[in-house]
Amino acid sequence: MSLCLSGKRLVIQELTRADLPHALDVFTSNTAYNTLRNGTAAYSLADLEREFDSIVSIPSGVWLQIIGENKRIGVMHLVLSTPTDPKSWISLLLLHSDYQRQGLGRETVNIVEAYCRDNGCTQIHHGAIAENEPALLFWGRLGYEQYRQVSGPVGLLVKPVILVAKWLQKSIPGGE
Ligand SMILES: CC(C)(COP(=O)(O)OP(=O)(O)OC[C@H]1O[C@@H](n2cnc3c(N)ncnc32)[C@H](O)[C@@H]1OP(=O)(O)O)[C@@H](O)C(=O)NCCC(=O)NCCS
Repeated sequence: MSLCLSGKRLVIQELTRADLPHALDVFTSNTAYNTLRNGTAAYSLADLEREFDSIVSIPSGVWLQIIGENKRIGVMHLVLSTPTDPKSWISLLLLHSDYQRQGLGRETVNIVEAYCRDNGCTQIHHGAIAENEPALLFWGRLGYEQYRQVSGPVGLLVKPVILVAKWLQKSIPGGE
């Protein structure tokens, strides 16, 4: 699937396996998040290739890279809604540590929400590691409501995960 979305400061486009060496820095810069997901701060190209391969064949799933200032500043995995399942999932969202807290996570999610809404999706879900308080604050600020806690696979570990979701408003024809 080829997807290319853009906003004010960002372009979001497909991430291929050949791009992984260039995207690795996004992961290695997030040592605390790596420790939460994998039990270790280190993250190698082989780890990234394994993670990429493990979900690349999910139907309607797409790996995306987030480009800002002509640099790869983030990575995302999205599972898009289908005619039989109106839910989309942001399964992974990670910005390079140098680019966090500048409104770029919000812009990324806003771009994805607009795309999903325009393509018939009514709700977007995400599973955040229960211990990842900054992520829970982020999703809360963006209007995502917590609805269930489950135990689920995250990176190399199984952890308590809080499921969050936002119901998308229908776009108004001729509106912003
Ligand atoms: C979580 C993440 C995607 C958020 O993106 P970001 O660009 O840093 O967040 P933004 O600057 O767009 O923040 C949007 C809102 O969330 C809030 N927020 C973001 N990070 C926060 C934090 N660490 N603590 C408290 N609030 C936070 C901001 O205050 C902001 O609210 P405001 O607009 O009302 O001021 C990014 O920080 C990241 O990649 N973190 C490491 C990886 C991770 O934990 N991913 C988990 C899956 S989301």
